[in-house]
Amino acid sequence: MTQVVLNALHVKQQCLNAACASSYPVSEVRTGCAACGELLDVVYDFPADYVSRNNLAGFAAFTARGATVAKRSPAGLMPTNQAALDFSGVWRFRELLPFYADPSRIVTIGEGRTILQRADHLACEIGIDLSGGGELHLQYEGFNPSGSFKDNGMAAGFTHARMVGAKRVACASTGNTSAAMAVYGSLTGMAVYVFIGEGKIAYGKLSQALEYGAKTLQVAGDFDACLARVREIAENRPEVGIYLMNSVNPFRLEGQKTIMYRILEGLGWEVPDWIVVPGGNLGNCSAFGKAFIELKALGLIDRIPRLAIIQAEGSRTLDRVVNELGVKWTPAACETSSRCKGCERPASCAQSCLRGTYDRATVQAEYARMNRDNERAHTIATAIEINRPVNLSKALRALHAMNGVVRSVSDAEIVENKALAGKWGFGCEPASGASVAGVRMLMNEGIITPKDRVACVLTGHVLKDPDVTVGYHTGVNTKSAAVDLTGSKPTGRVSNPPIRVADDLELILKAMGV
Ligand code: F0G
Repeated sequence: MTQVVLNALHVKQQCLNAACASSYPVSEVRTGCAACGELLDVVYDFPADYVSRNNLAGFAAFTARGATVAKRSPAGLMPTNQAALDFSGVWRFRELLPFYADPSRIVTIGEGRTILQRADHLACEIGIDLSGGGELHLQYEGFNPSGSFKDNGMAAGFTHARMVGAKRVACASTGNTSAAMAVYGSLTGMAVYVFIGEGKIAYGKLSQALEYGAKTLQVAGDFDACLARVREIAENRPEVGIYLMNSVNPFRLEGQKTIMYRILEGLGWEVPDWIVVPGGNLGNCSAFGKAFIELKALGLIDRIPRLAIIQAEGSRTLDRVVNELGVKWTPAACETSSRCKGCERPASCAQSCLRGTYDRATVQAEYARMNRDNERAHTIATAIEINRPVNLSKALRALHAMNGVVRSVSDAEIVENKALAGKWGFGCEPASGASVAGVRMLMNEGIITPKDRVACVLTGHVLKDPDVTVGYHTGVNTKSAAVDLTGSKPTGRVSNPPIRVADDLELILKAMGV
């Protein structure tokens, strides 16, 4: 098996707060920094010859692994063989997330075999100039085993859980995290506890958690309340032995970095102009930022794409914090070199690039105001219906490293753009539609130009939330009891309702309109 040239001495968990910078071994289970409460990163001290010794230059080795058809070890079980690692869209990039000690104990269920598709029809529809070099690509994460991008993170999170001997895992979820965690739990034999908010989860996702045998607790509260509770149990009730799988877990985000590697791979290892992603708890965008900081620091890419994080209007905390309150990330001063390979700014370095500061007091004051005003997230895209995104600080870092922007789009724009992506062959769930809506908005603003190469992450499969889709096409709210889908009038731009017709050949042909 390919051996990564790193050992435990070179990998640690480190607080991103520059003023603190406490570090902890990867063998410890932590949901945040013990000293200051900030988020932790998995930080690698890559040796100078890391790229050459592992033959990473040109990325060709990764792509070759993806073509493996050799017999694989069983999903989720040990020992994991090399074919299973090479087959995984996460672990074939294992040299870029080398926190594990023993490759045969890595967890994989065949995640991350997702595709970057060029979407020319949709590109034309939204005004990308194909003949002028513009391109729209959709990174379709719905092809994961549980139907969303979360599997990338779970492969890494469960690998760490196995490293530390965890038996019970838990998360709060708007649906996809729980679906992904439940399938990994069932295949690895770990007990799974899911906390969901009342009435806040799409049925496609709930059905997965139930089917895979997760103990599912429907807490009388929203996602934020669920996360606070499950965190409390993980942190303050050690006797329960809960390993937390939410994205405050830095190992999960290591797996989600690979979405970016696959986008680059799909572009022949060329860097696009834009990465566009929906933002909820802000784990994904955080992982993307870290991925690019590290690739740049390793010298594997020569420039970093810009990042657009798209929120729902009814759930736009980051948008407010950045665009109205002016909160920004300030990276730590460099410790080792005069010019940062990671972010290109002078007087910094890749490792200290990960550390920095921001105006925490303003963010806390905003949270207090939201509480006072009883302001609660509400959007049709339940996946991103979140008041206090736990990865806010890492998202600020990603925005800084990737020269990013944040926008929010209305529910109407979300469903229209979701439907358009679907009409042109890329069905996705509402939250994913936000990213397409975001591209449109940024094009209208002249920030994304028609000649840009844009890669949009479609985070979840169209079957995750059939109620929204059927509702859009029929005009009927399918969540309310048994309904007749043929009588009402939908109002969407590309609504495509079923046609009621008698059981009569001629009438059927007429209805077919052929
Ligand atoms: N898209 C989908 C389909 C999601 O399920 C989520 C998050 C996001 C986007 C936002 O990603 O949190 O990394 O910014 N879903 C979480 C869950 C919160 O519990 O399934 P993020």
